[in-house]
Amino acid sequence: MVRIIGVGSYAPETYITNEDFEKFMDTSDEWITERSGIKKRHISPPEITTSEIAYRASLRALDMAGISAEDLDLILVATSSPDSLTPSTACILSAKLGVKHKPCFDISAACPGFIYGVEIARGLLKTGDYKYILVVGVESGTKFIDWNDRSTAVLFGDAGGACILTQDETDRGILSTFISGDGYLAELLKIEVGTAYPVGSWGVRMKGREVFRNAVVQMGEAAIKALEKANLKPEEIDWLIPHQANLRIIEATRERLGLPREKVYVNIDEYGNTSAASIPVALEEMLDKGLLKDGNVVLCVSFGAGFTWGSLLMKW
Ligand code: COA
Repeated sequence: MVRIIGVGSYAPETYITNEDFEKFMDTSDEWITERSGIKKRHISPPEITTSEIAYRASLRALDMAGISAEDLDLILVATSSPDSLTPSTACILSAKLGVKHKPCFDISAACPGFIYGVEIARGLLKTGDYKYILVVGVESGTKFIDWNDRSTAVLFGDAGGACILTQDETDRGILSTFISGDGYLAELLKIEVGTAYPVGSWGVRMKGREVFRNAVVQMGEAAIKALEKANLKPEEIDWLIPHQANLRIIEATRERLGLPREKVYVNIDEYGNTSAASIPVALEEMLDKGLLKDGNVVLCVSFGAGFTWGSLLMKW
């Protein structure tokens, strides 16, 4: 089966707490905690670029997989905050890793970008033309934040998570994946950097309530789709790893599946919304804490700008 054999993550050391925001913005720890579940978020300094976060996470993933960077056949980076529009962050990462003459490209699919990446990697591994593929979900998105907009500034954080995928003969690995999207709702959540926007007008724009409503529906739908494809029931899941955008969205997804709280991994309080990074970061944390055990059935589910959504069901 196609499976993840290495996981690594990295978050910048600098962070901002809710109390720090209170000092320069009309907000409160109480509001942020109640509405989102976030207590702090990591913020990358200027020299820690998206590719640098990806690099640090990737070294850890390679180490766990027991392979070297030269063994990689493809590098995929899912991000909404690339170092530059071109070259891709994946290309910049490949040079940092010392990889030469291998394909590398970025995936722009917002928060579910990591799941999109796994879906692509899985398909390519099945062709037999690739042995090891690196998939990174990474953001340094706080560099785009409008620090005067309290409705978005408090929500996002920086981090990266990397996974090495391969195909082997074990019965552990990816049981099913599901990805989808709806570009008709693109206006509801955007990072306005690109040819449609004048230079200097950067910022994250979000209609929070509408995004919330759609996220609740599609996170639940995506979770059920992956389970149906694998012919599994929610009660057969050991862990639900939801994208960490809002604790209330996580709770709604948990309720839709009828899962007890102890089966849901939550670290939004520590990281805020790290978009494409949230799921691989959670995977490494869970491994570090000894929570994720061989044979566990794990359902990852995510929703983000585009809109895009997706799910990934694995036997770990
Ligand atoms: N501190 C204090 N008040 C704030 C605030 C802040 N940081 N941000 C917004 N508010 C205010 C608003 O101005 C609004 O005031 P008003 O009623 O006087 O206009 C009020 O709080 C309520 O805003 P609302 O947007 O209805 O709050 P909410 O309960 O929907 O929570 C979010 C806001 C952003 C936390 C929530 O909508 C959300 O999480 N949305 C989805 C986010 C998401 O998933 N995004 C990414 C997908 S990857």
